[in-house]
Amino acid sequence: MGTAYYVTTPIYYPNDVPHIGHAYTSVATDVVARYHRLRGDEVHFLTGTDEHGLKLQRAAEERGVDPRRFVDEMAPRWREVWQRLDISFTDYIRTTEPRHEAAVVRLLQAVHDNGRDDIYLGSYQGLYCVSCELYYAESELVDGNCPIHGRPVERMSEENYFFRLSAYADRLLDHYQQHLEALEPEIRRNEVLSLIKGGLQDFSISRTSFDWGIPLPWDPKHITYVWFDALTNYITAAGYGSDPERFERMWPADVHFIGKDILRQHAVYWPAMLMAAGVELPRKVFAHGFLLVGGEKMSKTRLTGIHPFELVDHFGVDAYRYFFMREVQFGQDGSFSWEAMMDRYNADLANGLGNLASRVLAMLGSYFDGEVPDGRPSRDESLVGTIETRSTAFMDQMERLAITPAIGAVWDVVAEANRYLVREAPWELARDPDARDRLAGVLYAGAETLRILAVLASPVTPGAAARLWEQLGISSPLEAQRLPEAAAWGGLAPGTRTTKGEALFPRLSS
Ligand code: MSP
Repeated sequence: MGTAYYVTTPIYYPNDVPHIGHAYTSVATDVVARYHRLRGDEVHFLTGTDEHGLKLQRAAEERGVDPRRFVDEMAPRWREVWQRLDISFTDYIRTTEPRHEAAVVRLLQAVHDNGRDDIYLGSYQGLYCVSCELYYAESELVDGNCPIHGRPVERMSEENYFFRLSAYADRLLDHYQQHLEALEPEIRRNEVLSLIKGGLQDFSISRTSFDWGIPLPWDPKHITYVWFDALTNYITAAGYGSDPERFERMWPADVHFIGKDILRQHAVYWPAMLMAAGVELPRKVFAHGFLLVGGEKMSKTRLTGIHPFELVDHFGVDAYRYFFMREVQFGQDGSFSWEAMMDRYNADLANGLGNLASRVLAMLGSYFDGEVPDGRPSRDESLVGTIETRSTAFMDQMERLAITPAIGAVWDVVAEANRYLVREAPWELARDPDARDRLAGVLYAGAETLRILAVLASPVTPGAAARLWEQLGISSPLEAQRLPEAAAWGGLAPGTRTTKGEALFPRLSS
C-alpha cells in the first residue's frame, strides 16, 4: 500500500430529497478516490448524514415523530442513492452515532480549555435562515431573503455560547496566503480572503431553543450548534480523541470536497475551530460550482429538483457519472439538460468507447477466434504516442483535481483509436491473406488500447470499465492495476482470450 489518502464529501441532511446537485459532490469525490486507488494509495473515503439541528427537529415535528426515529427512517435513502451511483465510500458517518458525539464533546472541551477564552457566554439577536442553519447580516440578504435559498429569514434572539472567530482572522489570512493549495479554485480563495479581510464576527456555537443535538459538556442546557457538530465529522471518522494511531495516519484530510454554498463554514469556521483546539488543518478544501437546471439552482420549492434515479434509469450509472464530470467544468457552475446528456451519450459513449470496443472485439472474434494475436512488432507510433501523452495528461490533471480535462484526455485516446481503425481498415486487411501480420498488428493495438482505456476510464465509469475488462479476458483483476505502469504500452499478453459481450453503452430509444 502507498500513502494514506483521506477524502470527504459533505454529510447530507437526511430529510432532503436527494437530487443531482447533491450527487454531483459525491460522484466527483468518488472519481478522485478511485483514481487514488489506481495510484496505489490507501484511500479513506468518508460520507454520511448530518442529522441534528433545528431543521431536522422541525421536519420531525411536522410528521409528528420523534427526531431519532425520523432520522433512522430517512438516513437509509441516502445510502441507497450512493450504492446505485457506485460511490465507493469506506466509512459512512451519522452524526447521531456515539463515536461522533464523543468527538464533538472532545473538540468543544479542547477549545473551551485552550486558555484563551475562545468560548464565552453572550446573547445574540440576528436573522437566521433555518435551511442554511446560518445567521446573516442584513446587508447579505437579497430582497430581504436568504441569499442561498431565496426564502424568508427569521429574527432570532438567544443566549448562546460564542466562539471567538474574530481572534482568528490574521491566522486564517496567513494560512491561505502561505498555502495557496489549501483552498481551491482560486476564485473561491479570493472570495474567502475578502470575507476575512472584511472582518469576522464571532459565531454562536450553542442553542437553547430546541434540544435535538449534542449538549455542551460544561452546560448541558445548551445544544451544540449544528455546523459545529457537523464539521467535526471529518475528524470523528479519523479517530480524533478515540484512536490516536488512526488519527496520526489519516489526519489531516487530503481534500474536503464541497459545493460553493458551504464555503464559509468549511473555509472559515472549520479551520478556526481546529486552530482553537490545536488540531492540524485539512490540506485542502475544494469548492465546486452549482449544477443548474434551466439556468437556476435546483430546489425543491421551485420544483427543479431532479432525482438521480430519473437519469440513471434511462442512461445507466456510468453514463450518469460520465456526463456530469465531463460536461460541467469541475469548479464552475454548469447546466443539466436532457438533450446535452443524450448528445454526450451518443457521441462519447455509444459511438465513442462503446463502438471502439465492439468493433475490436468483434474482429478479434471473427479473424482470430477471440485470441489476442502477437501483433506487438508492428507498433503504430502515432497511436502509442497519443496514449503516452494523454495518459500522462490524465494523471497530471487528476493530481490537480482538474477532473473534466482529465477525462477529456482519456476520451482523446478513444477518438484517436477510432481514427486509427478507420485509417488501417482491418476489415479490408482481413480479405488479403498476405496482410495477416498487419491485421494482427492492428487488432493487437486495438485490444491493447482497450486495456489501457479500461484502466484510465475506471474512476469515472467503473461499471463499464469492469465489463470491458471482463470481455478482454485479462486474468489479473482491474482493481489490481496501478498507474502509471498499467498505462504502459505492451502490457496485454498475446494469447489472451477475449469475448464480445453485451454492448458497453447500448443505443437508447430517445
Ligand atoms: N449538511 C450540510 C453539510 C455539512 S458538512 C459538514 C449540507 N448538506 S446539503 O445536503 O445541503 O449539501 C450537500 C452537498 O450537496 C454540498 O456539497 C452542496 O454544495 C451540494 N449541492 C446541493 N445542491 C447543489 C447543486 N444544485 N449543485 C451542486 N451541488 C450542490 O450543506
